[in-house]
Amino acid sequence: MMRFPQQFTRNKDAVRTLQRETIEEHLFSGRGRLRYFGLTSSALGDVRQWNDLFEVFYAVERGEEGKEWELQHELELEAFRSGLFNKVKLLRGDIDLVIKNKRDMFGNSAPFPFHVISLDYSGGLFYREPSGRFGRLQAIAQAIAHQAGKQQHFVLLLSANLDQVDQGEVRRTLENVRTELVRYGVAGEQVIDKYLSHPRDEARLKIYIPYFINQEAAKNRYSCETSPVIFYEGNLSTPMMAFRIYLRFDNRTQALRSPKERLSQLFNKPLLQIKDGEIHATMMELPKIASDAETTNAKQRWPHP
Ligand SMILES: C[S@@+](CC[C@H](N)C(=O)[O-])C[C@H]1O[C@@H](n2cnc3c(N)ncnc32)[C@H](O)[C@@H]1O
Repeated sequence: MMRFPQQFTRNKDAVRTLQRETIEEHLFSGRGRLRYFGLTSSALGDVRQWNDLFEVFYAVERGEEGKEWELQHELELEAFRSGLFNKVKLLRGDIDLVIKNKRDMFGNSAPFPFHVISLDYSGGLFYREPSGRFGRLQAIAQAIAHQAGKQQHFVLLLSANLDQVDQGEVRRTLENVRTELVRYGVAGEQVIDKYLSHPRDEARLKIYIPYFINQEAAKNRYSCETSPVIFYEGNLSTPMMAFRIYLRFDNRTQALRSPKERLSQLFNKPLLQIKDGEIHATMMELPKIASDAETTNAKQRWPHP
């Protein structure tokens, strides 16, 4: 049974602090006027921690099956108790469907674009629809396309647990990355091998998710800046990851550009591990791509998606 208010850990507090840093780094000039869309939970932890930056929070909540109204009601009550009722707009239903339809299950509009999209899922990212497609990854791609329709620069925050990581999808993608590296003459073979044989999924997802976002972004005329990837233990010691990516819109040319962010940048950035609320940088014993190769190939980007 769900306890009210929903509770989060010290680690989660630290994640919100890091997420705030990314929002401020890229969107500071708009502070006080920013628009948020995402998963706040009924405890409104991020809303409270970032309140001064935002003009409005579109908070999506689907609730627990069979008693959806409980969490939705609790969210509105919490907004009222915290004096945030005028700023928090509740949208009801699954956020993936809200993104798809740009409306919630009662027809209320999700008025894209937003400055921050926070897909702070409690579950994993790899669930498949009956069609076999990855529904959640598809929703993320759709959100990027909606934003591009309005040419909006924005920060994408994505958090998920490591449930049912699709090993085939992730490993095949890393093999594709290997091909890209080889094509550009970057000595990355052994680096990819280490990522593939690493005991933890976090190592591979550090590359997979930013690579996926970079590809979807490039299709929509965005370039990406990925902040160091975070991993931590959430409630009930569940392993979690959090990604922070700034997407900058650029339509100076009709021809699409390849992703601007270099693969070596993604590989060589340490991860941030949060333990007992403290933040530590770590490479997880993963090798870096040789810096001379990086320099030699500094101008080499990926091919078009
Ligand atoms: C991890 S919490 C959000 C925490 C919040 N961002 C913070 O910083 O404190 C996720 C919330 O979104 C809801 N939720 C999870 N997946 C969802 C989905 N696919 N659609 C709508 N709501 C969802 C959960 O019920 C929960 O209240």
